[in-house]
Amino acid sequence: MSRHYKHDIVIIGAGAAGLTLALELADQHRVAILTKADIREGSTLYAQGGVAAVLSDTDTIDSHINDTIDAGVELGDPEAIRFTVEHSKESIDWLIDQGVPFTRYGEDDAYHLTKEGGHSHRRIIHSADATGLAISKTLIKNATNHPNIEFFPDRVAIDVITTSKLGIEGPSRAVGVYALNLDDDVIEVFHGRFISLACGGSSKVYLYTSNPDTASGDGIAMAWRAGCRVANMEFNQFHPTCLYDAKAKTFLISEAVRGEGGKLLLPDGTRFMSQFDKRKELAPRDIVARAIDHEMKRLGIHHVLLDISHKDPEFIKEHFPTIYKRCLEYGHDMTKGPIPVVPAAHYTCGGVLVNKHSVTDVDNLYAIGETAYTGLHGANRLASNSLLECIVFARSAARHITSHTTPNDDIQIPDWDESQVKDSDEDVVITHNWQELRRFMWDYVGIVRTDKRLLRAKHRVDLLLSEIEEFYANYKVSNDLLELRNLAMVADLIIRSAMSRKESRGLHFTLDYPDKLTSSAPTILAPPLTD
Ligand code: FAD
Ligand code: SIN
Repeated sequence: MSRHYKHDIVIIGAGAAGLTLALELADQHRVAILTKADIREGSTLYAQGGVAAVLSDTDTIDSHINDTIDAGVELGDPEAIRFTVEHSKESIDWLIDQGVPFTRYGEDDAYHLTKEGGHSHRRIIHSADATGLAISKTLIKNATNHPNIEFFPDRVAIDVITTSKLGIEGPSRAVGVYALNLDDDVIEVFHGRFISLACGGSSKVYLYTSNPDTASGDGIAMAWRAGCRVANMEFNQFHPTCLYDAKAKTFLISEAVRGEGGKLLLPDGTRFMSQFDKRKELAPRDIVARAIDHEMKRLGIHHVLLDISHKDPEFIKEHFPTIYKRCLEYGHDMTKGPIPVVPAAHYTCGGVLVNKHSVTDVDNLYAIGETAYTGLHGANRLASNSLLECIVFARSAARHITSHTTPNDDIQIPDWDESQVKDSDEDVVITHNWQELRRFMWDYVGIVRTDKRLLRAKHRVDLLLSEIEEFYANYKVSNDLLELRNLAMVADLIIRSAMSRKESRGLHFTLDYPDKLTSSAPTILAPPLTD
């Protein structure tokens, strides 16, 4: 028997996007927020550098727009970019009103703005080097105190329930969500008049990632199964600098370290970025990550070095307290010498296709944050534009939901049917497939691609998909199985998108088509039509 819950809005995810949407709607609507782990866990919590916005008198909207277009290698949607940048200042004001403690600095105690790759101005507002923690803590506190917001942690959303899946005629509309309660393995039904996917990205599809475990592409996979198109899935961003240390897993070293003067070096101390781009360490991420990958392969080394030790130790400790402490825990003192770094999968530039109100192809289903493709990032995301996108598009979705009427009919949603499945007898299938998937995605669909590598990856993912579907049809669901199913689906979308792009642009670099085409368009995939 399923438990049933009824709210006006069901939001899947409590990162910057989901929390903003909830807080913007809660005065008028009853909101449920589902999270697949602890409420705080998600990429937002770990964001370091900050939020990009036009805040300084010397900066301009056009400059931020141009930097975004440039980083995205002219594939971004100009309207979406303008919309985002024009709403940047009010989004920061909203965060400040919520109580986010951004860092102030200097004699006038003004908000400190740092710099990151691809930005022609200082425009990253931040909370030391733990901006995500500050945003997450503040918004969660406010949401927890709001009487109309109810959190449901440890609930893994399985699928969006639509009228078409229920066999109801007419345009398909989202009416609820099935979710696995990890405490007792009961599959619950969350009824909502509006559903929003705010599940973060899918970088966990790669073996090495800066992302937490929640980034398994669930939102994108659920939207695809619900009938939504996805776009630009070939553009997965690799962050150039994660700490190289077996014990650290993949701890990010913020781009702000390079923004404040950090240099990239080879093991013999040679600075190498000037051979790749005139902006050196502050070139956009795709260029820096590819340069590091190139040097690592050329020299057969496991990492390069990042050095900011020429700066005053007090400056380093004040600006990067979290990074300084974490590196020290692993035996690297960044005030005294260089630290070892490698690239790792960091951000999903593509996602569920939405318009500027965050509306997907399915009525009453919204996608926000890293799950969505808004058109902002094009072929590569400009640093610190993603938290901005979360806030701008969540607030836009809230305005749309508030002004939108929908039938208030009481749709009967059946319990989850487990009558045909049994307990899994061989979980090793899941573990094995999981490792294989993430390994071949890293090896064949990573920073440098070829047709042959993509084809190899496609054969493997096809096989995995059929094995996983069989497993899914016969055995009870578990978190691991659900994640594997979603990751395989997302991997397939990434590979298919990459195969269809016959050029190198931004994050998609292939040795078979090393040049950029003179004109290019986003890659849009549509799910097969179901009855
Ligand atoms: P997330 O914050 O990832 O939250 C996802 C939520 O969805 C979680 O609550 C999770 O539990 C939930 N969820 C997922 N699947 C399910 C499911 N099936 N059922 C229920 N719940 C589910 N961007 C910047 O702009 N500036 C930065 O400085 C910056 N630094 C970064 C540093 C790191 C280490 C990382 C990893 C990312 C960084 N980014 C940065 C990117 C940015 O943090 C993310 O893009 C952004 O936080 C995504 O927010 P979100 O709300 O979309 O998702
Ligand atoms: C960082 O601090 O380097 C991450 C910034 C981002 O991902 O936008």
